[in-house]
Amino acid sequence: MAINSGSTHEWTGTSGDNWVLHQQRLDRMLQTFGDAALAVAGPRPAEHALDIGCGAGTTSFALAERVGTSGHVLGVDISPQLIARAEADTPDGASVAFQRADAASAPLPPAAFDLLFSRFGVMFFDAPTPAFAHIRKALKPGGRLAFACWRSAAENDWVRLPMTTIRHLLAPPPSDPEAPGPFAFGDPARIEQILTDAGFDDVAITPFDADIPYGHGATRAEAIEDALGLAFAVGPLSRALAGQSEDLRAAAEDAVRAAFGQRPGATSILLEGAAWIVTARNR
Ligand SMILES: C[S@@+](CC[C@H](N)C(=O)[O-])C[C@H]1O[C@@H](n2cnc3c(N)ncnc32)[C@H](O)[C@@H]1O
Repeated sequence: MAINSGSTHEWTGTSGDNWVLHQQRLDRMLQTFGDAALAVAGPRPAEHALDIGCGAGTTSFALAERVGTSGHVLGVDISPQLIARAEADTPDGASVAFQRADAASAPLPPAAFDLLFSRFGVMFFDAPTPAFAHIRKALKPGGRLAFACWRSAAENDWVRLPMTTIRHLLAPPPSDPEAPGPFAFGDPARIEQILTDAGFDDVAITPFDADIPYGHGATRAEAIEDALGLAFAVGPLSRALAGQSEDLRAAAEDAVRAAFGQRPGATSILLEGAAWIVTARNR
């Protein structure tokens, strides 16, 4: 199982289930990054926005608040579980709708949106250039694209720490930095090429670093256990350990617990996160 595995089809199965189950913890982890992307996206009243890979809808709701009832937000996600959660959680009167579809081929209204937005939802396409070219057709001429994506796995402590901690137990999984998955957009030159080839102009890629509050608990001890549960349920560590023996999983748990114990944090374990905030404009 490659470290960057996490392609589109997984989200309709276990990954989607786990994201629903751990949604609140994941939202807490991702909020700072989403807020940074939202700030540069600058949604305005009456605008129409598309939230790509919207998950359980947290950022779609934030966009809907900003565009108001004179505007509209469409959240698209491939995961039926996450779209069901987003629909169930939609606040009364919010100007937002959800569509379960593969964004790479979803039937989208042409030249209908002022803004394409995503919080970590655009790194999973098998063929990113045609996917972005397809989505761009839904953007008005001159419309904006803004998204957050992870930098490389090596720069992201929330994956680097657990994966290096278990290295003595399990050989590191093969790494293809361009394979669809959370770290597929680690290389900014690749992002720029994909977006330019897909027909976007004015591509700007800015690093954004923030501590990720990993797990949560009333005490530090509880937070460490919660962080451990999360690392074993969602993300690269959980995928690397899937199908391994109970003994190996228990040894990995001890090692990762000790490693988390070295990191700061009172009610969450603070792990360094490294993202790109990407903006571009439709020609
Ligand atoms: C890391 S999660 C982020 C979810 C959400 N944007 C958030 O910040 O909470 C990635 C999301 O992208 C979705 N996704 C992956 N591939 C997709 C595709 N081809 N079309 C639409 N959604 C996709 C997944 O189902 C998942 O909800």
